[in-house]
Amino acid sequence: MTRSPATAAVRVRRAELSDLDDLVALEEATFDSDKISRAQFRRHLDSDTARVLVASANHRRFLGTAMVFFRKGSRAARLYSIASLPEARGKGVGTALIEAAEMAAQQRHCDALRLEVRTDNDSAIRLYERLGYRRVHPIKKAFYEDGSDAFVYEKTLT
Ligand SMILES: CC(C)(COP(=O)(O)OP(=O)(O)OC[C@H]1O[C@@H](n2cnc3c(N)ncnc32)[C@H](O)[C@@H]1OP(=O)(O)O)[C@@H](O)C(=O)NCCC(=O)NCCS
Repeated sequence: MTRSPATAAVRVRRAELSDLDDLVALEEATFDSDKISRAQFRRHLDSDTARVLVASANHRRFLGTAMVFFRKGSRAARLYSIASLPEARGKGVGTALIEAAEMAAQQRHCDALRLEVRTDNDSAIRLYERLGYRRVHPIKKAFYEDGSDAFVYEKTLT
């Protein structure tokens, strides 16, 4: 997959069943609510309407993950989830995952990638904005299970 120079060492591949333990462990360690369960991951790995991506580099097989959803009849794909291992953050893993998610969306003939982000998630918001995502929607009140609000961001894919 094509990457910017800063992320050249990071590779992104499609997740496999053998990634399940790492996917669940990262999900558990990262999020307090709206968690993707093991059964959901297993289903999404095998689904035509989802693409689960995994980032790796050199000797590390699993550094982070992103999940993209596609909907029949919609030209906008949805970046449903993204996380990198805490010790791998700030090294381009998130960037590489987003670039790969955009590529996956384009392969599915989508012309936009859309996402929701907690309004207080400053580092994720900075990353999305740096990569060209723009806020497109009024705040979604109590969007998350814990009552937090969300911004909606979108990027037109060219
Ligand atoms: C959001 C998240 C996925 C970003 O992942 P990441 O691997 O840190 O992403 P990157 O390294 O590509 O970018 C993060 C920062 O590192 C910088 N960076 C990118 N490549 C770099 C490199 N090669 N060397 C040093 N820094 C780099 C980026 O400029 C960016 O800086 P910024 O915060 O000022 O924009 C990660 O912080 C995370 O897992 N957070 C918890 C889960 C979460 O909040 N997910 C989003 C839910 S919507």
